Amino acid sequence: MSEILKRDKLIKQWIKEAAESIESAKVDSLKVEEKSARNDLVTNMDKKIEEELSRKIRAEFPEDRICGEEGYGDDLKDLKGTVWFVDPIDGTLNFVLQQENFAVMIGVYEEGIGVQGYIYDVVKDNLYSAIKGQGIFCNDQQMKAPKNKSLSEGLIATNSQLMTQDKYSDYRKIADQSMGVRMLGSAGLEVIELLKGNVIAYMASKLSPWDIAAGKVMVEEVGFKVSQFDGSSIDLLNKNKTIFSTGKAFDEIVTVNSK
Ligand code: IPD
Ligand code: CA
Ligand code: CA
Ligand code: CA
Repeated sequence: MSEILKRDKLIKQWIKEAAESIESAKVDSLKVEEKSARNDLVTNMDKKIEEELSRKIRAEFPEDRICGEEGYGDDLKDLKGTVWFVDPIDGTLNFVLQQENFAVMIGVYEEGIGVQGYIYDVVKDNLYSAIKGQGIFCNDQQMKAPKNKSLSEGLIATNSQLMTQDKYSDYRKIADQSMGVRMLGSAGLEVIELLKGNVIAYMASKLSPWDIAAGKVMVEEVGFKVSQFDGSSIDLLNKNKTIFSTGKAFDEIVTVNSK
């Protein structure tokens, strides 16, 4: 079995195991802590899932390195070799406050190139996946590639800071040229909305490598674009102001941004 197929099989199994732990967690026994701010939360479940995934990855693939949100990964200075990007719960605020709209995400990169992406919508039991060159799938069923729509033809998704903080007010004119704005609160699930054709772009003012990695593989797989707001390439060693979008909307968004 090729390395990619071996990983594919194991990742799907591990993600389902993680989701079973999350689903069996009792909301009232969750330990919730603040990280950098009152709305930047981490729970014992985020830590447990990342710790377990990291342990499983290291046991099967000891040469590989891990970039994870909650501190169980490696301190990466480059993207050489095989790197696993792990977001144990994407949408922790939703997990704590809504008990829905959160995802487990894994992206695998070889020498900096995205080769596999997995986004699991835990509550809906939908596992979205992509292997570079093989298309995008939901629960192993191939998904239709979304239409390449322009900014004026669809809805745009953003993170809340882009709408609430005045320093980003310039970006509101992009939203103004679209049909309207939607916000889910999980970078991974916003990307899934793009892949389903429900929005034409997702813009977020500050995404970390683990927020971007899995979705980037999937979005590039359908020929759409992922970049920083100014059109420059994503840097998976740092935070990025990130656009995921259709090809047509991307050109329009970058033009507005550069004015
Ligand atoms: C967050 C979510 C959110 C986005 C934040 C991310 P987390 O991830 O994806 O939608 O706006 O920038 O940090 O912290 O819940 O894994
Ligand atoms: Ca977080
Ligand atoms: Ca995240
Ligand atoms: Ca997270």
